[in-house]
Amino acid sequence: MTDASSTPAIPVTIHRGDYRPPEWQVPDVALDFALGIEETRVSAALSVQRTTDGPAPLLLRGDGLTPAAVRVDGEVWNDWRMDGSDLIVDLGERTAAVVEIDTVVNPAANTQLMGLYASNDMLCTQCEAEGFRRITFHPDRPDVLSRYRVRMAGDKTRFPILLSNGNCIDRGEGDGGTHWALWEDPWPKPSYLFALVAGDLVANRDSFTTMSGRTVELGIWVRAGDEDRTGHAMQALKNSMRWDEEVYGREYDLDLFNIVAVGDFNMGAMENKGLNIFNTRYILADPDTATDMDYDGVEGVVAHEYFHNWSGNRVTCRDWFQLSLKEGFTVYRDQCFSADMGSAAVKRIEDVRLLRAAQFPEDAGPLAHPIRPDSFQEISNFYTATVYNKGAEIIRMMATMVGPERFRKGTDLYFERHDGEAATCEDFVRAIEDGAGIDLQQFRRWYEQAGTPRLKLSLVEEAGQWSLDIVQTVPPTPGQPEKQPMMMPLRLAAFAMDGSGAHLADTLVTISGATQRIALGRFAVRPALSVNRGFSAPVIVDFARAPGELAWLAAHDDDPFARYEALQQLMLDTLVAAVSGKDRDPQTVIDAVAQTLSGRAADPAFVAEAVLLPSEAFIGDQMLTVDPDAIRRERLALQAAIGAALESEWRAILDGAAPPATDLSRGAKGGRRLRGVALAYLAATGMDDAAALAFRVFSQADGMTERQAALATLAHGDSDERAHALDIFYQRYRDNPLVLDKWFQVQAWSVRPDTVDAVRALAQHPDFTLTNPNRVRALYGALTGNQAAFHQADGAGYRLIADLVIALDPKNPQTAARMIPPLGRWKRFDERRQALMKAELERILAQPGLSRDTTEQASKSLL
Ligand code: PHE
Ligand code: ZN
Repeated sequence: MTDASSTPAIPVTIHRGDYRPPEWQVPDVALDFALGIEETRVSAALSVQRTTDGPAPLLLRGDGLTPAAVRVDGEVWNDWRMDGSDLIVDLGERTAAVVEIDTVVNPAANTQLMGLYASNDMLCTQCEAEGFRRITFHPDRPDVLSRYRVRMAGDKTRFPILLSNGNCIDRGEGDGGTHWALWEDPWPKPSYLFALVAGDLVANRDSFTTMSGRTVELGIWVRAGDEDRTGHAMQALKNSMRWDEEVYGREYDLDLFNIVAVGDFNMGAMENKGLNIFNTRYILADPDTATDMDYDGVEGVVAHEYFHNWSGNRVTCRDWFQLSLKEGFTVYRDQCFSADMGSAAVKRIEDVRLLRAAQFPEDAGPLAHPIRPDSFQEISNFYTATVYNKGAEIIRMMATMVGPERFRKGTDLYFERHDGEAATCEDFVRAIEDGAGIDLQQFRRWYEQAGTPRLKLSLVEEAGQWSLDIVQTVPPTPGQPEKQPMMMPLRLAAFAMDGSGAHLADTLVTISGATQRIALGRFAVRPALSVNRGFSAPVIVDFARAPGELAWLAAHDDDPFARYEALQQLMLDTLVAAVSGKDRDPQTVIDAVAQTLSGRAADPAFVAEAVLLPSEAFIGDQMLTVDPDAIRRERLALQAAIGAALESEWRAILDGAAPPATDLSRGAKGGRRLRGVALAYLAATGMDDAAALAFRVFSQADGMTERQAALATLAHGDSDERAHALDIFYQRYRDNPLVLDKWFQVQAWSVRPDTVDAVRALAQHPDFTLTNPNRVRALYGALTGNQAAFHQADGAGYRLIADLVIALDPKNPQTAARMIPPLGRWKRFDERRQALMKAELERILAQPGLSRDTTEQASKSLL
């Protein structure tokens, strides 16, 4: 492959406002692949149709391609030129033509994992967002939709299985031990949904009968030996298909649905029409190798990709600024699905925890952007927690404001109006307005304004009547110094704590002003306010409450999410006070944890979530200047205090028999979760038998949930058992990449003071490789999530991450660029750390030939 492309030296910024409809449509695409690991020849025939009145050049995007031959309507054509890496064909007065282009690519050399690449001897594609142009020249924009016909031929033993989108309509034998297959996808689709897979794969096959009675053949394709670990994914797929029929009235629209799992993948999975391609991490699961959390991840991602068939594929995005149209909506859909499959309260807690861990910091930092960005240099950098998770919250707020029936009317109208189209976020909002009957004029600001809104609350009393005063502010973000107030649903309730029973039942109010007063009713004394219940709006609530009030809510609120929030707030207040050097008795927290633990029989999963201390990062987010060392110290101290004070409780939890690992019921999963939490609390006390206890759990574990929890606990300490357990684990699972990832991860998560050194050493381990994104994330991603280690005072953590970015960028810019945001949070730290972090960003930027991905992230992170 000649690298005609490399990235332009001066980054080009693309603006949403510059959108112009395509001048040429491409109703049909025929592709012919002669497959080879090191050389694949691609012949493309694009039938193009002009949409403009007068002549217009045909712009075909390319990335790293050289056109071997160009033909127009069967004739050799010379009226073309290269514009950078793109191909411009002059078609004169023609309004339609068939443009044929031959290209050659080298999948084995494709370390970016975009376009056609090799993974474990198989060939697969990844085209979103702009990978198709690395296979052949094409407009490669999501508003150009085509019917695809794909012929592929290759060595029969190397590639016994040949898959693409749609249906296989013919196959046969060729010369010299080759065979071929012809696939046709009847549904017009943008190029980013194209997929091809060739390799030696086996399938777990099943079928699904749709609501109209059609039979759909299902196949989950993996490497031989892995098929026994696909059962959970298959069940999740069938459940998703049924759920989308029942909840959204959406039926699957092909006779075949295939999923392929690949070991080398930049993201979680990809929703290619009829041929989803997955990171093995989100397909393979069995009790011996996958934790309950891994199981939930499989279920959620399988559902997510399946749901894209309607929210993404049947209705796609007009341009990449509209990414949240498909991603925000689809995340919302998969969240609701998982809530329906398991515990709604626990799912909501997990989703909010993720939002606060990943999205709030993004929204508060230099890379903040609205869910519908206004500009970008590299679209790959905008697959963010903001577009995905905040995007889902925006959809959820609309659903909350109108209720389920009206929301369904809105989504029905959306699918009906825009089926087969490339739509915009505005189209979605208008469909909800028209279908559900609500005015969303002000609500549209959520698409325009970045930054997490802050609600400052105070309770006021006049003659026994209580009300809530709300002051809303939206902080300035890069390029948006001034903000307007947002419209949002706020669920609240109020309780009398004096036993008088006075009570304001669950109420939904709409906030829209910068200031607003809400009447709560008559209470003899100040009521306990339960606010933003269920996290009805993705905001920060600023509301000073006494520890006793929070403890009361943690015990008595009738909304489980609000109970969780109250206990978290109580813990947070205690920790923030301690970190700022204020004496704060942990007894209220200990009592509240004890009280919550007493309800564990009814819902162990909820209790396990509720009694977890807030993360170090989240504690840091509450502070003006983050002090990672003090946060680590005080959090460990509180953990030890709770561990010691409630020792008999934790021991009682662990003394009971563990549910069998094969039991994946809600109760069993919750029980295992709580056992893991109990073990962590006991270990934190540093009591004599802690390591022995953890080692016993590790050794007796009959599945990965307990085994990993015990190993992670041991990894924090420096016992002999630690080394022993790590060695046993390594020897047992060294040939299983997904489990080996865990071995790297638990070591990088460790609170030991030598973790940065350990990560540096692990990067030299023979099983470490930069070519596998999962492995990179397991080691280095875990380090950036380990606040005190990453922010080690001498800057060694920063240096390690910058070294990684510099080494990885030439191979895989997408994954390299994703490691930069933690370095961009420098404003939140002390001056010394600020200087160290900025120096590393500058060192990255000084590298010659840096990718567009990394250049954009690093330069924006310095602002
Ligand atoms: N569209 C994929 C998803 O959400 C994510 C993805 C983006 C995968 C880009 C690969 C590349 O589900
Ligand atoms: Zn998605």
